[in-house]
Amino acid sequence: MKKLVLAMLVLCASNSYAELYLTPEEEAGQDLYKLNCMACHQLDQQLVGPSLLEIAHIYKKDTQGIVKWSMNPDHKRKNLIKMPPMAHVGEKGLYQIASYIMAATKGKKFNPKKKKSRKDPFEKFPVAKIQRMFMPDAGPAAIAVSLNDNLHLCWDAGTCQFRYAWTGGYIELWPVVRGNGNGFVNLKGEKFTYVKQGKPFGENTEIKFEGYKRKDGLPIFMYTVNDIEFEVSFKANSSKSVDVTFNTNSSKELTYSPSLTQGKWSANRGKIKNGSLLLTARDSRNFTITFSAGDK
Ligand code: HEC
Repeated sequence: MKKLVLAMLVLCASNSYAELYLTPEEEAGQDLYKLNCMACHQLDQQLVGPSLLEIAHIYKKDTQGIVKWSMNPDHKRKNLIKMPPMAHVGEKGLYQIASYIMAATKGKKFNPKKKKSRKDPFEKFPVAKIQRMFMPDAGPAAIAVSLNDNLHLCWDAGTCQFRYAWTGGYIELWPVVRGNGNGFVNLKGEKFTYVKQGKPFGENTEIKFEGYKRKDGLPIFMYTVNDIEFEVSFKANSSKSVDVTFNTNSSKELTYSPSLTQGKWSANRGKIKNGSLLLTARDSRNFTITFSAGDK
């Protein structure tokens, strides 16, 4: 019996990891890598940045060296852009990514002659449902999230706010790659709601992004506003409407003031006064804002 279970496990494993067996640490690294690095780094060819094979070739087993670089990159290759610092991932996350890079490149040789790709390398892969990328009309730490085949949104990990949603296709990464990291992704659809950059819980609040976890394939972003812990999740409400649900450990009243230039918003709790949502201490622990197409 034990042998059978083992055989089945091996079968399952070889199905889902056709080439790679990853430890839980490396697997966490793979997730973080997809979100934070893959837009610019590919396994075996230079994209916006050097290939993973080149990175592994330089750093050998020095995972700490990769962490150090990523916290505060140099400008080493003058023909490439300077890599943006990845300190927001945190040292632990970067260490997991470095472990993943080691695992993914194990036994593979770096070939310095292999030239930069001229075709869209993402053509063959579906773009990740959660993708940190240079998004148009958003801050530099924007994250694209695809809720379903037709509804997608942009969340900003800098100000920790919902920025916009669109219908139609998801995103095309090629413009970023072609522009050596200077371009933005293409939204393959049309925006129906747009929130201006700002701090919806007050301009003087201190915001800290704490990463995300996943439920049913969708992200739950975690962050703090002053000392209050927030978790925010998303749901398609209708074809042109998104529910943004906040769970917090707040014990105080909160005021939420999104500044929209397109679409409209409503809330399932609290009172709206002069464009702000006033939440009692009790309501501030769990509330949902719906952003939809249409006039205010
Ligand atoms: C916006 C594109 C971009 C993103 C995102 C990005 N990088 Fe880079 N990365 C670059 C570029 C460009 C270089 C080359 C910079 C240079 O040589 O000056 C580079 C170089 C590197 C190097 C080589 C350092 C060396 O000593 O030569 C490492 C390691 C690295 N990146 C790790 C990461 C990790 C880990 C992440 C994700 C957490 C990441 N990068 C995300 C663009 C990016």
